[in-house]
This record gives sequence, C-alpha cells and structure tokens, in this order.
Amino acid sequence: MSLQLFINLAYIVSSVMFIFGLKMLSSPATARRGNMLSALGMAIAVIVTLLDQNIITYQWIIVGIVIGTVVGVAAARMVAMTAMPEMVALLNGSGGLASLLLGWAEYQRDFGIPTFTAGVIALTVLIGGVTFTGSVIAWAKLSGKMDGKPILFQGQQIVNALLLLAILVCGILFTISPPTSYLILMILIVLSLILGVMSVIPIGGADMPVVISLLNSYSGLAACAAGFVIENNLLIVAGALVGASGIILTNIMCKAMNRSLSNVLFSGFGSATSGGTAVEGEAKPISAEDSYLVLEAANSVVFVPGYGLAVAQAQHAVRELGELLESNGAEVSYAIHPVAGRMPGHMNVLLAEANVPYDQLVEMDDINPIMETVDICIVVGANDVVNPAAREDEASPLYGMPIINVDKARTVIVLKRSMRAGFAGVENPLFFKDNTRMLFGDAKASVQALVREFKEG
Ligand code: TAP
Repeated sequence: MSLQLFINLAYIVSSVMFIFGLKMLSSPATARRGNMLSALGMAIAVIVTLLDQNIITYQWIIVGIVIGTVVGVAAARMVAMTAMPEMVALLNGSGGLASLLLGWAEYQRDFGIPTFTAGVIALTVLIGGVTFTGSVIAWAKLSGKMDGKPILFQGQQIVNALLLLAILVCGILFTISPPTSYLILMILIVLSLILGVMSVIPIGGADMPVVISLLNSYSGLAACAAGFVIENNLLIVAGALVGASGIILTNIMCKAMNRSLSNVLFSGFGSATSGGTAVEGEAKPISAEDSYLVLEAANSVVFVPGYGLAVAQAQHAVRELGELLESNGAEVSYAIHPVAGRMPGHMNVLLAEANVPYDQLVEMDDINPIMETVDICIVVGANDVVNPAAREDEASPLYGMPIINVDKARTVIVLKRSMRAGFAGVENPLFFKDNTRMLFGDAKASVQALVREFKEG
C-alpha cells in the first residue's frame, strides 16, 4: 500500500470517529465518550499527517506541540466553569489565526499558484481574520476586559459596507493575479482583521455566547477553506463538521431565546434593562425552616436550575438536597431549559459534575405537560427561563420564548439573592404569584441551610 493511500485511509477513519463523536455529544450519558472518541480521531489525524513527505522541519513542529500542550492542559485545568465561553472564544480565535497564517504561508511558499488556490487563500485569510479578531473582542467583552455594552457610532453601517466592498475588490484582484498581489494580500489581511472587530463591537456582551457559537462555525469554515488550500481531505471534512455544527448550535440557541440571528447580531439586546408591563403585588419571602416544612411533606420535587446555580456553585449542595428528598420519599427531577445559564449545556455540565443521575434530568418539553402534578418546584438561580411574562405579556421582550412553566406547579420556592432582574433585564411576575415563595440569599447557602434542616429534622 502506498503511503498516500494509507494516509487517506487513516483520514477516513478519523472522519468517521469525528462524526460518531459529535453524535454522542448529543446525550449527557454518552458525551464524555464522544469527546474521547473525537480526541482519539484527532490524535490519529495528527500522527498520520506527520508522515507527510512535504514536512520540512520536525523540530519546529515539536516545539509547537510542546508549547500547545502545556498551554492547553494548563488552561483547561485552571478555567472556571463559568469562564468556559471565554475559553471557547480564545480557542476559536486561535483556529481562525492558524487558518489565516496557513493561507499566507502557502502563498509565500509559491507565488505562482493557480486561480482556484488563490481564491481559497483569499477566503481562508478573510474568514480566519474575521474569526480571530471577532473572537478576541468576544473574549474581552465576556471577561470584562472591555465594556460589554454594544458599541455603536454614527455611520457604522456605511463604514462596514465600505469595508466589505474593499474586501471584495482585494479578494478579486488577488484571485485573478496572485504573482503580483503580495501587497493586496496584506491589505486583505488587515481589512479582515478590522472587519472582525467591527462585526462584534455592536453586539451586547450578554449576547456573546451566541456570537461565540457563530464564530466557532466561522473557525470551521476557515479550516475547511484552508483544507482546500493545502489539499488536505481531513481538514476539509473536520472544518465542514465544525462549520455545520456551529451554525446548528447557533440556530438552536436563537430559537430557544426566541430571537432571530439578525436580532442578536444587530439589535444591541442585553444593553436595555427594561420592558414589559410593570408587575404589581408583593413578593412573599420564606425562611429555610419554613421551606423545610413544605418540602418535607412533598411527594414530587422538581429543581429548575439557572445561571445563579453556576454563580453560586450550588450544584453539589443541590444534589445532596435531592438525595435527602428522595430518601424522604419524594420523587426528584431536574428540569433543564435549553438556554438556562450562559452557554449551551451549562446546567447539564454542572449537574453532571455533581454526579446527578442522568435519568433525573428532564427536558423542558417533557416536564411542562406534567407541571400541574408537581408539588414543589425549587428554582435555583433561574429567572428568565421561568418568567411567565414570556407566555402572558405581549409587551415583554421575552414574549414568545419557551419557558419552564414552574408557576403551574402547586408551590414554587425561588432561590435568589434579591428581586433583581435576570439576563434580559425584565421583571418576573412569577415572584409575585400566590403560590410562589422567595427564599432570599446565595443559592448555595440557602440549599445548605435546607440540607441542615433535613439532617437535623
Ligand atoms: P438569568 O435570567 O440570567 O437569571 C439568573 C438569576 O440568578 C438572576 O436573577 C440572579 O438574581 C440569580 N443569581 C445570581 N447569582 C446568584 C447566587 N449566587 N445565588 C442565587 N441566585 C443568584 O438566568 P436564567 O434563568 O438561567 O436564563 C438565562 C438567560 O441567559 C436567558 O435570558 C437566556 O436567553 C440568556 N442566554 C443564555 C445562553 C445560553 S446558551 N445558555 C446564551 C446567551 C444568553 P439575584 O441577582 O437576585 O441573585
């Protein structure tokens, strides 16, 4: 068997492992194995690629692998779960930058490239550049290194339109005459980097997870284009998989937030902190002791976690309370909203970390039809995803967003620190309903207080 045939066969094996790995990511029960399978596929791909006859120097590759491994392992171990979207932003940005550099290097290696290759180099550099600076801005906004509010200025649309036009002209000029277009490629790179900044600054920091998912998709497309530049089948397949899954995820997030992608990208949502009909009435606080008395008599309890669970890091305490409720005879489950928290699967990851059994996790569409039969819903730091205004108040910015109908349970206990609004900045009529009680305080401290009551009671 020729070396080339062997490499291509190994690439097919890797591609199949990526596809099955991705499929396994769709269920919490198989996600870890899916991740491992994909990582193994990537390891095979890297090793096989190192057999390529065109490699000029192994020394620099080894230096790169060592630095990359050290940085990657340290970052993955140190990053807090709540900072994961920022980490993903940086990873996307690195992917984009790698593709940009690959396109540039390939041109540097041979100015006499055919038109097709010049065209895909222009695409690689463009998408890679936008992904790189766009991701860096997303990271800066999310990590508080720059103001998270949308940055808008007069004539922004015109500037962006001119930028796009200039990019188009440079791309065409470079494609039709690569040997004489070094300067044009440099201008294209600079303009692409500027476009990345310009596309992300008008977006509210709180919408950044959706943007990150989109940039993830771009990084895949950049890699796919890079695959065409160096004629590497696996890079084309892997890039296309990342591009497609990123755009599917973006779509799922937009749907669950009841927003269109253009609304996320251009509306500056998340900067406003009002909207909807004013809520009248009084919230009814409850103590941990009284909550215990209610919980002690319950036959069915549903936890509804939200972003506050992540902030308070209350997942272990919640699992302990769940176990105590179960040994007290209650049926316990955890209702998961698709956009609870700040990143896809945020709640699943936290609950899995605390070893909550997968079969106790229930999706929104499965819990809502039986909500009337639930004795108690404990809302742990969730707000928007349980806001009935999304169902009832046409004036609310949340109107139309699917929610978990906790207000239909017999009793609702809401764990949060204050009456402050959630991500969307709107009031929540749930807190004022007759069947709702507010257990104020940090979610972890409140759940621990309930655990103590159960242990002592
Ligand atoms: P939010 O609406 O953001 O509400 C979280 C609540 O947690 C806040 O009202 C806050 O109230 C409370 N909280 C914060 N820290 C706490 C602590 N230490 N202890 C107790 N409570 C605490 O969260 P949600 O209901 O999960 O909704 C998610 C929102 O994010 C949705 O609007 C969604 O569209 C948006 N979003 C989600 C995603 C993804 S992919 N998940 C991506 C982008 C945007 P206090 O300050 O009073 O404590």
